[in-house]
Amino acid sequence: MDQHGRKVNPPPSGYKNHRRNMDNDTLSVNPKRFRPSHSPHRADPAPLSSSASSCRALSTRRQLYEKPFPVYKQPVEVGSFSLDSERRFFNDARQIRYFVEPPSRPDFNLRDGYKDRFVKRDDSIKEKLDHILRWILANKSKLESRVAAASSSPALGVDVVTWRGHLTKLLTTPYETREGWLLAATLFRGTLYLSEVETEASRRDTENRTERHQEMMYWGYKFEQYLCAEDMKASPDPGGVVNTNEAFCTVVQTKLADHKLLFSGEVDCRDRGPKSPAAPACYIELKTSAEICTPKQRSNFHRFKLLKWWAQSFLPGVPRIVAGFRDPDGLVVGTETIQISQISHLIKNEYNCWKPTVCMNFCCEFLSFVRTVVREDSPRVVHLFSWDPHQDVTYTVHRDSSYCFLPPWYVEGMASPH
Ligand code: A3P
Ligand code: MG
Repeated sequence: MDQHGRKVNPPPSGYKNHRRNMDNDTLSVNPKRFRPSHSPHRADPAPLSSSASSCRALSTRRQLYEKPFPVYKQPVEVGSFSLDSERRFFNDARQIRYFVEPPSRPDFNLRDGYKDRFVKRDDSIKEKLDHILRWILANKSKLESRVAAASSSPALGVDVVTWRGHLTKLLTTPYETREGWLLAATLFRGTLYLSEVETEASRRDTENRTERHQEMMYWGYKFEQYLCAEDMKASPDPGGVVNTNEAFCTVVQTKLADHKLLFSGEVDCRDRGPKSPAAPACYIELKTSAEICTPKQRSNFHRFKLLKWWAQSFLPGVPRIVAGFRDPDGLVVGTETIQISQISHLIKNEYNCWKPTVCMNFCCEFLSFVRTVVREDSPRVVHLFSWDPHQDVTYTVHRDSSYCFLPPWYVEGMASPH
């Protein structure tokens, strides 16, 4: 079934180099073609709205970011961790699940078990970066030994530590018209930590979710259960409990222009075939979406959903998505595999559609902006970056406030020699 009109066409310019390199070891264009935003030679208008000497705001206008694709190195998995059914951290891959190909006519009822076999994670508990910080402490000597030679770099050898989901939000910002965000930034031992803060609007939305919406949030997890087995030789167990506390997270390292990034993201499952490649190329993202019946629905799928799906998987180098299309009653009517590298072809006939280069360039400029603004290296200082649709990104500074997010156990753990 090719209900989305997928066919292979030459890639649009700008994305071509990056695609070609994706098969090698870097996702990049010629680095010489990348111009940092502060370059005096830039021909396009500066995205920084500056007042005299200091930069106070960053524009999110799409046109400013229509530049060559920035260097984005092929992400490398440097570790992984697991969260169990009680959300306890383990420095290992015990929660990894294995992908099992769905039947050509799947009989998946995503509503099954919502009332009686669902344990929902308590999302009022704000975990901030805690699990990633735990992983960093548990792997501190390994990380530090990698940078021992390069004395000028930060202790951890990376410029930015964050969740993949926070970067996904940055990538989609130039196209987002509904939801703003707040990102807290702290510079500690030369590394910038970025941690999301819930907005008032998001808190209200969560509080006012309808019963139908709450149930539909379960459907995505239920779909995962139909396609995932707990070990190499097992089958999925649709009669089991869906517990959203459980997670397997990959930790990857990569570089966006001159920003060395270390981030973690949840991974749904991995390929279990004998020829499956090394992580993260063996990982598979699972998604659900409403069945597509009209050209308008297809266009919306391309414009809105594929943007989010692309951003989420492209960042950690997850190469494919298995999508389940469902009817309004939560029955899966078909599944399809979508290669991340093919998404730019799928959207190319959409008028005025999103562009991967805009997403990546905006993220890159945002990180440069943050590094320009945040100069004081202290776990007690938070710069809170704030964005609302149709506005610039702005920030406020907070010292010893409730926005501080690096816990004492991390600050002390990083200072101790072992
Ligand atoms: P879908 O992806 O099928 O929508 P992820 O896809 O990132 O692995 O997330 C798994 C599932 O969590 C989603 O499945 C969806 O059911 C639920 N979910 C995650 N974030 C959500 C959000 N912001 N709103 C609604 N549901 C969400
Ligand atoms: Mg998923």
